[in-house]
Amino acid sequence: MPERVLSYAKTLAEEIADEGDLLVDATCGNGHDTKFLAELTGKSGNVLSFDIQKEAIDKAEERCKDMNNIEFIHDSHAHIDRYVHKHSKIKAAMFNLGYLPKGDKSITTEPAATIECISRLFSHMVQGGRIIIVVYHGHPAGKIEKEALTEFLSGWSQKSAQILEYRFINQMSSAPFTLCIEKIID
Ligand SMILES: C[S@@+](CC[C@H](N)C(=O)[O-])C[C@H]1O[C@@H](n2cnc3c(N)ncnc32)[C@H](O)[C@@H]1O
Repeated sequence: MPERVLSYAKTLAEEIADEGDLLVDATCGNGHDTKFLAELTGKSGNVLSFDIQKEAIDKAEERCKDMNNIEFIHDSHAHIDRYVHKHSKIKAAMFNLGYLPKGDKSITTEPAATIECISRLFSHMVQGGRIIIVVYHGHPAGKIEKEALTEFLSGWSQKSAQILEYRFINQMSSAPFTLCIEKIID
């Protein structure tokens, strides 16, 4: 059986991440993906985990309290350049778009910040690095974000990246799907 959409997002990170890598969780939320990435990179690696909501960071810090390779950043992922040293290279980054589960549904990822972060991240990635995005578009803001993202990524040069869309075409049309941008060259 092909892997489910959410599980495959993790596999895409797992396939390339090694101990000691710099990894990014662009949407920390409750910290499930942050913890997963921190386990992948191990004690010698580092995870930068962003969220604009203090409530999310607090929950994630509690979930990851036994790990000391995570830097929680209470700021928009659009400002990632402020936190990545110019000589550091990122191996993999994950996004879970949308709103914080059980949180305020009016606070959600937004196309401009998401696209800005993807562009900035790409410039900090190693060759072969991956930006993995789970797109939730069953809510109105998610639909707008999905459309903006699809338009932006469709225009990306195929010489610099290969971009995968992973979804099951016989599920309801708003079912989440996974995107993966794999860097070829800058
Ligand atoms: C779907 S949730 C993430 C769920 C998370 N992966 C988990 O394991 O629980 C999306 C999160 O993105 C955050 N977010 C929205 N806009 C953001 C931005 N510009 N920068 C960083 N985080 C943002 C929201 O506050 C929310 O917590």
